[in-house]
Formats: sequence, C-alpha cells, structure tokens
Amino acid sequence: MNQKIYIITLCLSFGYGVSVQDYLGCFKSPTTDFDSPLLVFNYAVTPIKCIAECKSRYFMYAALMKGEQCYCMSKYGGDGPSNGCTNPCSGDGKAFCGSHDSMSVYSTDQKGPSPPRGLEVSENKPTSLRVMWQPPDIPNGIVRSYNIRVVAVETHSTLQLFPTQIEIIGGTSDNTVLTNLQPGTKYNISIVALNAVGESEAIYVIDWTQIGPPDKPEKPKIIEKNDSTIKLRIAKGSSENGPLTAYQIVVADAGIIPPTSHDIAYTNYDKAIKNDIPYYITGEFEAAEFYKYKEFVVGNGLKIGGYYNAPLEQPFDNPQIGVVLVSKLRNEIQYSYSDLLGSEKSDNFMFNRSTGNSGFDSTIVGLCVAIALLGTLLLATVLGYFILRRRHEQIRMTKLPEQQELTLQGPMHEVDNMAYIPEDVPERPNHYQDLKSRVWSIPKNFLNVDSIPLRRGRFGTIHTGTVQDKNGAPTKVLVHCISDGKLRASEKKNMLRELDVCIKVGSMNHLAGLVGNCETPDTLYVVLELPPQNLKSRLLGARSGDLFPTEYILPIGSSIAAGLSYLEAHKVLHSHLCARSIGLTDDFVPKIMGFGIGRHSLEDMKLARWTAPERFGHKKHNPAVVWSYGVVIWEMMSMGGTPYSDLQDECDVEEAVVEKDVRLPQLRDMPDPVYEVLLSCWQNNSEERPMFDELMRLHTLSICPITAITEPYLPELELN
Ligand SMILES: *[C@@H]1O[C@H](CO)[C@@H](O)[C@H](O)[C@H]1NC(C)=O
Ligand SMILES: *[C@@H]1O[C@H](CO)[C@@H](O)[C@H](O)[C@H]1NC(C)=O
Ligand SMILES: *[C@@H]1O[C@H](CO)[C@@H](O)[C@H](O)[C@H]1NC(C)=O
Repeated sequence: MNQKIYIITLCLSFGYGVSVQDYLGCFKSPTTDFDSPLLVFNYAVTPIKCIAECKSRYFMYAALMKGEQCYCMSKYGGDGPSNGCTNPCSGDGKAFCGSHDSMSVYSTDQKGPSPPRGLEVSENKPTSLRVMWQPPDIPNGIVRSYNIRVVAVETHSTLQLFPTQIEIIGGTSDNTVLTNLQPGTKYNISIVALNAVGESEAIYVIDWTQIGPPDKPEKPKIIEKNDSTIKLRIAKGSSENGPLTAYQIVVADAGIIPPTSHDIAYTNYDKAIKNDIPYYITGEFEAAEFYKYKEFVVGNGLKIGGYYNAPLEQPFDNPQIGVVLVSKLRNEIQYSYSDLLGSEKSDNFMFNRSTGNSGFDSTIVGLCVAIALLGTLLLATVLGYFILRRRHEQIRMTKLPEQQELTLQGPMHEVDNMAYIPEDVPERPNHYQDLKSRVWSIPKNFLNVDSIPLRRGRFGTIHTGTVQDKNGAPTKVLVHCISDGKLRASEKKNMLRELDVCIKVGSMNHLAGLVGNCETPDTLYVVLELPPQNLKSRLLGARSGDLFPTEYILPIGSSIAAGLSYLEAHKVLHSHLCARSIGLTDDFVPKIMGFGIGRHSLEDMKLARWTAPERFGHKKHNPAVVWSYGVVIWEMMSMGGTPYSDLQDECDVEEAVVEKDVRLPQLRDMPDPVYEVLLSCWQNNSEERPMFDELMRLHTLSICPITAITEPYLPELELN
C-alpha cells in the first residue's frame, strides 16, 4: 500500500514538473562563450527547482550540469548535441543532470522578455504625460516594441474616457509622450515589452494629469442695485478639467480690461488700493456653498471668505463685476474668468433702466463719437509715425555706434496710466521710440550685477550692482532684472508704462531716477540710482547714537518738496511716499526713490499710515501726496518714529483718520509754525492743502535742537 502511493507521487511529480515537452535534450556545454548562462545555485536538488528558479528570473531555458549545478539561459545548444548527460541529479536520482562537459536543457515556458523597468512619469501637463522606462534586463532575444496602455481610473470629466493603447516600435525606445489626455485625471499607465515570441509581464505607474481651467463661467446678472451695493445672481459653474473648488466675485474699475489668463489670481481690496491695481476680489466662497451665495450682494462691507467686500465707490461709477471659478488640487490652481458685467454698453443700459429709450440714442451717439475719435487717432498715429521716423533717423545718424537700440518688442500702448495724473494729455503715437533715444543704453561690460537678489520685484528680481561711469569709476546702483521674453503681454505693457514714467521724468537732483537700460537677448536690466543710505534708516541711527543734525531736517523737507513738485510737473504721482522711499546722500541731500518702475524695488511696506483719507477710497491726486509728505516731515522730527504707533491695525488707522479726524501729534520739540504746516498738509479737504512749490520754502522756518525721542519705532507696523 505504502509503495503504491509512493509510485503515484513520483509519476505525478514527473508529469507536472518536468514534462517530456520541457526536456529539450542533452547539449555540449559551451567551452568559450557559455551562451551567457547564469549560474544560479550549486546544489540543484532537482530539475523542477532549477526550472522554477530560472522561470522566476524570466529566462527561457534552465540547464543542469554535474548533477548539482543549475544554469539559466536565453539560448542553448551553440556547440551541438551531446550524449554525455550521465550524472544523476543530486536531489533526484531518477533524473539526469548533465555531466562535467554536457548539460541537460529544459524549457521554462517563458516566452517574452522580462518586464521593462523603472517606468515613471517625468512630465505632467494638463493634456499629456511624458513617460520614461528602461529596457528589460533579460530580452530573451531582441526587444522589438513596447505596448503602452492608458486607462483613466479617476476623472472630473463627465465624458466617458476609453482606454487607449499605443505601440512604440524599436527596442531602444525609452520614453514617449502620451497625448490627448483629459486634464485633472488619474491614469493607470502600463507597459509591456515584446520580442519575436511573446510579450513580457506588465509594469504600471499611476499618475495625474495637471488640472486645467474650469469652464468659462457665465456673466452674473443684476437682480437689484442701490447707491452702494449690487445684488447679483450667479450661475452654477462647472469644470471638466479638475475639481471646482471655489467661486470668486471680482470688481474692476470702469473702463479697464483686467487680465483673464488662467494662472492669474487677483488680489484683495486692501492690496489693490495699496498697489494701485484697478481690480480686486470682493468675496470668495467654496463651491459647496454655492446655494448659500448664488444671490450675492457686492459692496455689503462684510468679509466673505477672507475678502473684504468693500462698499462700492461714491459717486457710483458703474464698476465692472465678474465671476471667477477656481480649481485647486494640491499645489496646482487654475482660474476661469467670466465676461465682466458693465464692460459692454448693453450692460450699462441694463444697469440704468431709468434712461429708457434715450439710452439707446445715446449709445448710437456714443458709438459715432467713438468711431470719429478713433478715425482721427488713426490718422494722427500714421502721420506721427512718419514724422517721428524721419526725426529718429536723423538723430540716429549722430549717435555713437555703441549706443544700441533698446528693442523692446511689441507696440507700446498708452492706456490708463496708473501713475499719471488723470488729466494727462494724450501721448504722441510711438512716443516710446522717441523716448528711448534719451536713455543711456549701458554696454553690458559696464554693468556688474550682484548675484544674490535683494528681493523679488513685480517684473523680476532686484539686485544691487555697480555701473562704471564715463571715467571708469564704479557707482552703486539698483538693478531690476527683467526676463523680458517671459513676461506676459499685459505685464510687459505695465512694465513699459512704468519704465516710461522714469524715462519721461529724466534726471533731477532730488530724484533717484533711471541711470539707463542694458538689454541682452533674454534680460532687460533697468538700472536705477541707489543713494548710499535711506532717510528712514539714517533717522533711526539717531536712536542708537548716530546723531542726525537737526539743522538739516527742514532743508531736506524743502528739497523733497522740490523733487515732488518736479514730479508733479511731469505728471507723475508718487504713490509710495514715506521716509523709507527717500534716499540720502552722505551730505544729507534727499533723493526720492520709488516712482515709476522704481516702486517695485522698494521694501514691502504697509502704507496706510502715510495715506490721505480720500485715498482709502481709491482717489489718486497730487494733494494726497502732500498728505504723505506731511507724515515724512513728522517722521524726521520724531527720528524715524512710527506714525500712529498706538494703533496696531491698518484698519484702525484708516478708521481714526477717516472717521475720527485723528492727526499725528505735535512733538515736544516741534515749533508751532512747523506743526501748523503739517496740519495744513493733513486738511480733510484736499483743496486746502498747500502746494509743493509753497512747501519748498519750509527751510525758511526754524527749529530748535531735538532733545527727546518720544515716539516709538515699531517695524512690524511699517513693513510686511
Ligand atoms: C494598472 O494596470 C495594470 C495593467 O493593465 C494592472 O495590472 C494593474 O492592476 C492596474 N493598477 C491599478 C491600481 O489599477
Ligand atoms: C442697499 O441695499 C442693501 C441690501 O441690498 C442695504 O443693506 C443697504 O442699506 C442699501 N443701501 C442704500 C444706500 O439704500
Ligand atoms: C441713470 O442715468 C442717469 C443719467 O445718466 C443718472 O443721472 C442716474 O443717476 C442713473 N441712475 C442709476 C440708478 O444709476
């Protein structure tokens, strides 16, 4: 009985493990080229074990020698057959395991190559993924192609996404770009390698395409409006390209065209005012809260999703209102902007029902006037272009050859210049071409830019550096490095406009203006004067013993007024005036910094403490600069004290100044006449404030030495 079972077991083990088909024969073991066999282990007890081992390593053949050695191979029999496989296997006396010069060869049933290795996604884009891999270790012949299968496993799309398969011909291929994918979708990408006889096992990788922008939202509809608020109905948004995360409601000044690219986020109301950006987010809510906010009141003064829903400006100036859909996933974010309500004539018509039919008439009249105006402008542009070109050519003849052209590509548009006084006269066409001939085009070898940036500016990084003057002596300068080619068109326009301001202003003793430009193929260096010190830090020095001579205070004040008067004459408003934005030479001559493109080189300041009450409501005009000027004089007399240091929050400052008429105090050593001048600068009615040409006489007053520093300096209230 026992013996019978034993025999059956033996038969079974032969039948399943080492079938007759598996045995390929006895062959001479290679003498030189061993057919690249791989010796796996030395004490192969049975052929079954050797075959299993080689199969798990993706080899096609297993061979046994000397009764106990197991080799894994991709080919066999190069030296011809043999009949010398006479050694019984050490672990299975009934089977033969080659001899010292012959090998018993078995098939492992492996057909294709071993799987490719190291599959990874090396580049994720919204509609494509680049995948890379390495070839199989054991090709078992020649790898002829790869098959890649792409299956969407998770998506935000409502479309049905079918699996796709592509074939990459050629065993040396090791990467490809999978295209036509759906954004914001998780894919299972698997790859197999194929040789002449079969395909390998698959390996796979799971990865996401980047999200894409949501679908363009509908323009909101007005339900109701009164003097300070507008109630809107918002349509439900959707996104095929990623999760729909949030809705934003944005407000833009009438007449401007704010950016709408999918990677741009607007800022909040406070920052918009501070940085003169004519559009802002007035509220944000999560997509899940849509039903709560689908009727949205713009201008209700509340905080909505962390954004101040500022009351609309008085007098009501038909702002433009839009909806933004936000899609956010991990660190990716995409925006879609609706058309703006109020951007078209028909919106305004709808806005103001009371105008009735006359609104239509006035639309037509308006259009006619606009067409006539545009026609005239076009004519003037063409004429102006030819005149300027002729003049420019004449100028060019007399120029030094080294004075290269400043070739900022793209036309210069003169639109809504934020830094200009509103009643700016229209520019002659092509004026930029004209102006650039006035800028020093600095040869690159004259300019040395320190490699570590001071900070990021709006258009690039800000560095210190030196430029050689005509005598070869280095002068310290501030360099704004602008990657010209990388700027978006709208940003470039802004940049040129601000550069323009500096060019227009030219040079003046009390201004730290433009030194020149240096253009390389990929970078525009805007070089600005860098005074050796800064008025604020020099004043603060007095607090640690480096006396600030009192007798310089009022003359410095006069000189600042002279600089500001000069800017005013050139129709430039200084929007960042404070002691920190004034440079100082070693002999106490002030140099105003931070106008035009220079404002991006300034530290990130909180300016509420220098802001005139009317400017909290957006207004820009020169008397507002007079207000800030008064604060600068106060800063000097307090040796760098922080204005309203008892008020922590900028909003508290706004409230105190605007609503409670709070003014900075008269300091202990401040004579009455000086304080009266300051109070006049801080008149509520901006018309009653003095002009800069009057303030230029400040030095005719007199002050006594300052005996006590009473006002604290709190940097956290002044800097971000
Ligand atoms: C990905 O696809 C491969 C091959 O089609 C499959 O074997 C694997 O299980 C899939 N992985 C996931 C996580 O779906
Ligand atoms: C305008 O309407 C809002 C509510 O829609 C209301 O709270 C506000 O007081 C109104 N303002 C005026 C000036 O009527
Ligand atoms: C409608 O338009 C007229 C004239 O343009 C203006 O006086 C009036 O204030 C407007 N009404 C509203 C509600 O905007």
